[in-house]
Amino acid sequence: MSQPRLQGKVAIITGAASGIGEATARLFVLNGAYVIIADIQDELGQSVANSIGLTKCTYKHCDVTDEKQVEDTVQYTIKTHGRLDIMFSNAGMTDPVTSIVSVDIANYDRVMAVNARGTITVIKHAARAMTQSGTRGSIICTASVASCQAGNGTVSYTGSKHAVLGLVRAAAGELGRFGIRVNCVSPSGVGTPLACGFSGSSQDEVEAQCAGMANLKGVVLKVGHVAEAVLFLASDESAKFMSGHNLVIDGGNTVVNPLIQLLAPGEDC
Ligand SMILES: NC(=O)c1ccc[n+]([C@@H]2O[C@H](COP(=O)([O-])OP(=O)(O)OC[C@H]3O[C@@H](n4cnc5c(N)ncnc54)[C@H](O)[C@@H]3O)[C@@H](O)[C@H]2O)c1
Repeated sequence: MSQPRLQGKVAIITGAASGIGEATARLFVLNGAYVIIADIQDELGQSVANSIGLTKCTYKHCDVTDEKQVEDTVQYTIKTHGRLDIMFSNAGMTDPVTSIVSVDIANYDRVMAVNARGTITVIKHAARAMTQSGTRGSIICTASVASCQAGNGTVSYTGSKHAVLGLVRAAAGELGRFGIRVNCVSPSGVGTPLACGFSGSSQDEVEAQCAGMANLKGVVLKVGHVAEAVLFLASDESAKFMSGHNLVIDGGNTVVNPLIQLLAPGEDC
């Protein structure tokens, strides 16, 4: 069998108590990494860590809106494991749907605090640790199709995810000379607690709605598919020269105009 793709690597994943972060933590461990599961849902995060096995991961409380907690989590990782190779900045939230004319600015601030300010804070401390130790690391952020197209989330969420993409590109530009790669993944709808809470639907309902709107038929986007894309970006072998990239995982939705049908029904293959 070939060598696991992240053998000997140490990773921090924010928002890893649930959804995409949890699936990625499990996949990273399967691929040989030691993972720090960072989140604010302590009971859930600890139970995820217990179920993976405490020789392969640790749960650490880390609210990404609090810079000190982010710094402490990175320091803890360096102190306990001697290195930080991969930072997956994935924690995120959304606000309820409102019109731009009635958007609650306090909600906007909360969304920006987690999604945008949290992302720059996490990139800052990962970059600091990696440059200080001379580690040619990989920083990956979870953006969204809302990073490059409106209409996929609330106004605040769309603004915050465009900000994530801008931060990724800016950081990639500065960190290239240290050999540090910075990329993001941009999934379309996945049936996680975030998406279910947003739409007031069950996981099955979210998946059915997303599959119905998808350009690519016959596949339902799952957290595991996103985790595979993150693993690709984390691994030196597969993504060695990729930086500043927005890896969109949407079955083509953001590049195809569904309103224009050049072929009449029956004329297509
Ligand atoms: N589910 C989707 O349809 C979808 C699509 C595109 C992008 N995303 C993004 O994926 C990421 C993960 O979300 P998910 O869908 O897996 O949802 P999720 O609710 O399963 O996971 C989000 C996690 O982030 C944690 N979190 C929230 N605020 C935090 C904070 N201040 N500090 C630390 N952790 C915090 C939550 O506790 C939770 O465990 C988010 O950035 C989200 O915006 C989700």
